[in-house]
Amino acid sequence: MKVSMKKIVRAMSIIMVVIVYITTIILSSSVIDTDNIFSKNNIIILVVLILISYIVSVIISNKFTAPLKRIEKGMKLVSEGKLPDITRMKEHEDFEEYHELIEAYASMLKVVKKNTFDLNSQQSKTEIILEHMADGMIAFSTSKQVVHMNKAAMRMLNLTESEDTYDKICEKLNLNVAFDKVMYLPNYQSIEIKAEMGEIALSIVFAPFFSDELNPMGIIMIVRNITDSVKTDNVRKEFIANVSHELKTPLTSIRGYSETIMNGDLTYQEIMRFSKVINQEANRMSKLVSDLLQISRMDYNKQVWNKATLNTVDVINKVCEKVKYEAEQKSHKIEVIAAGKVPSIYVDKSSIEQILINILTNSIKYTPDGGLIRIYAGPVENRVYIKVIDNGIGIPQKDLERIFERFYRVDKARSRKMGGTGLGLSIVKEMVDGNNGTINIESKLNEGTEVTMTFPTTKE
Ligand SMILES: Nc1ncnc2c1ncn2[C@@H]1O[C@H](COP(=O)(O)OP(=O)(O)O)[C@@H](O)[C@H]1O
Ligand SMILES: [Mg+2]
Repeated sequence: MKVSMKKIVRAMSIIMVVIVYITTIILSSSVIDTDNIFSKNNIIILVVLILISYIVSVIISNKFTAPLKRIEKGMKLVSEGKLPDITRMKEHEDFEEYHELIEAYASMLKVVKKNTFDLNSQQSKTEIILEHMADGMIAFSTSKQVVHMNKAAMRMLNLTESEDTYDKICEKLNLNVAFDKVMYLPNYQSIEIKAEMGEIALSIVFAPFFSDELNPMGIIMIVRNITDSVKTDNVRKEFIANVSHELKTPLTSIRGYSETIMNGDLTYQEIMRFSKVINQEANRMSKLVSDLLQISRMDYNKQVWNKATLNTVDVINKVCEKVKYEAEQKSHKIEVIAAGKVPSIYVDKSSIEQILINILTNSIKYTPDGGLIRIYAGPVENRVYIKVIDNGIGIPQKDLERIFERFYRVDKARSRKMGGTGLGLSIVKEMVDGNNGTINIESKLNEGTEVTMTFPTTKE
């Protein structure tokens, strides 16, 4: 049952008046000294009465103010970021006046609790995102102190906890970006600079961040590892430089020789000799252009692989037939050695031919006249291996790992003289991959080279 404090106070005051009245009547005749108001007796009675009323008022006022005290304590806890225990408030609910206040207080605490939870989970979500993002992030306060730095930033920039100010970090990274300049950048603008940390290329973006009232609160630094894109960019630039160079060389000699012929005064033999050079250079250019087209087709995934089951030995023999003339020009002997019954291979016909032609023409080109080129074929672990072994000039160990790179040649001048473009093996590698094959080259300088490939026998 609810009791009203207002009613209790009114009842109490009436009761007090009645008590005082009754005590006065009872005591007046016998105890109270009417002649001398300030007599010792009177004062003792007064003190006793005051004491009783004091104790009663303390008990009542405590009962009345206890919930207020509890709410006050609770609010203090909330302001310290803690949540008070609401259950003990129930003890005070029997006062009508407090009932609503306690309910309001309880529902306010519920809202605070929910908001705190939301805020905490939002915060931890943000923290998880920051910690797990690949980019580095450092936030600085207006006083240039680090207020947040994620793991990626520490790792990428090789920073420790002691590097905790903007100036220290900029000094370590050798960056020269004025803090104030970033801080007062117009809205949504940033400064991006490129930097290097050893082998790693970095893009660093500086931007200010603002409060809800749009006051600048500090700046953030976003660090991104751009090594891969820088590398790709360099490869592209190098490729264009190589292509231009490779085209310029034959063009220069074609122009030179044709001008000489046009100037006249040449014997028939000389004209024939120069025309032959022009023809050779034109052929080289045409080979280069067709290699480039092949590469571009593969780069743009336009290469169509028409895979089918092919007789391995037939394919090898057909290619041998195609390079026979070139081999005879250098008096090479080509042998095909099949290990028992060779299973068929499941590959694209024109690319397997191109692969073998490129490998065989290399052996023909880079083997001194009268060499021996052997082609082995046989089964290996559900696949078919094809091995081309020559006894030519070989490839130095240090060049072996780069041999599949575009335009990579051990000896540029020699390769060019042989009509090479430096693209042959890079095309081979991509074609082998496209046919689910593997390739490995082993070589000994001045002894010979061994190219081992494997191909699938069925659709994998
Ligand atoms: N069988 C081989 N013997 C010796 N060197 C080889 C052989 N095959 C390839 N090379 C070396 O590898 C380089 C790259 O080969 P490739 O990509 O076919 O280019 P290219 O034949 O046009 O020069 C060649 O320039 C040559 O130096
Ligand atoms: Mg070649």
